[in-house]
Amino acid sequence: MHAVPHAAPDPDELERLFAHVRSRTRALAAPLSAEDAMVQSMPDASPAKWHLAHTTWFIERFVLAARPGYRPHAPAWDTVFNSYYQSLGPAHPRPCRGHLSRPSLEAVTDYREIVDARVGARLRDHDLDDEARRRLLVGLQHEQQHQELLLTDIQHAFWCSPLRPAYREDLPRPSAEPRPMAWCEADEAVVAIGAEPWPGEAGFAYDNESPRHRVLVPAHALASRPVSNLEYRAFVEDGGYREPALWLADGWALAQAQGWARPLYWDEDLEHAHTLGGRRALDAAAPVCHLSYYEADAYARWAGARLPTEFEWERAAAAAGPPQGNFADDGVLQPVAAQAAPGRRPAQLFGDVWEWTSSAYGPWPGYRPWTGSIGEYNGKFMVGQWVLRGGSCATARGHVRASYRNFFPPHARWQFAGLRLARDP
Ligand SMILES: [Fe+2]
Repeated sequence: MHAVPHAAPDPDELERLFAHVRSRTRALAAPLSAEDAMVQSMPDASPAKWHLAHTTWFIERFVLAARPGYRPHAPAWDTVFNSYYQSLGPAHPRPCRGHLSRPSLEAVTDYREIVDARVGARLRDHDLDDEARRRLLVGLQHEQQHQELLLTDIQHAFWCSPLRPAYREDLPRPSAEPRPMAWCEADEAVVAIGAEPWPGEAGFAYDNESPRHRVLVPAHALASRPVSNLEYRAFVEDGGYREPALWLADGWALAQAQGWARPLYWDEDLEHAHTLGGRRALDAAAPVCHLSYYEADAYARWAGARLPTEFEWERAAAAAGPPQGNFADDGVLQPVAAQAAPGRRPAQLFGDVWEWTSSAYGPWPGYRPWTGSIGEYNGKFMVGQWVLRGGSCATARGHVRASYRNFFPPHARWQFAGLRLARDP
């Protein structure tokens, strides 16, 4: 298996990572036709073709175009494939990305090859300075985030079609016996949270992970594994979606308005679900996913527990060692039940499903966004969103770490997002 490091951008290592990430994106898009690649099924999602082009634009704009006199491949595309970098100029509205029949998929594929060749030549010639190499590493981390979105967006698009096509028919169907859940106690402690600012002595981390700082974490217990499909089905069958006392007001209003009665992709029979492999029987022991924050929170209340704070989660993850789990590189593209019996420490923290936390997405004390236009990457979204931790079965291996903070608005359901329970002593 090819591990992707996230260390400082040594030129040779960066060249290897560049080749790996760019070819991985091509492979993920390979099962899609030009028609598939143009679909935008909702404003929150983007067409696969747009992901392919935007990730390339990001590298061209932030790495290649930083050199005076650089001639962009297609200057008119600057607006079309800019996502939200206002300081670089206007951006085509996100809900309208599905209007872009031009440039064609073929033209976008050519664009990728041209930018790859230009970056590849400068890598081989050692013609990228420290700042350019750092920006290229950010561009590759960014592309890995879009690889996951490419998968979740096409899953949603195919679910919206009455034909319910599979992204891939040949995905494996691993399963495991249900394992009991155990509570893992943790004493009160002052813990170090976050990462050292990058670039620095340590490896890559986003600006939203620093500065590293100390937090008092009260005594609590964390579940040994995420909540399973079987457990969540009991909540549905117990009328969890019909009991307002279990829900936050905003979540209840949204669930009523949109008719939520089960997780996003579940069939009415509660036995089957739409997956990247098409319609499949639910794996009872696997972690439940495609939940909004509101659903995760309501389930936790029904279970007599709560969601963990991101501090509780990070403390457990930092003690768990290097991230291991079911990631996109494993080629399953579905959450799978843990094989191990419950131990005294929380397991399955990485991979399978992102875990909703009860923490609002905000800045760490002393937070500073990266300087320049690239500083628009994270900081300006620090309102109205909740933090998820740990990565999923659609996340690139090597992309996440204990301090990694993903964030989505509380209504978002189309990501591989589930939950782990926590409780007070
Ligand atoms: Fe982006």
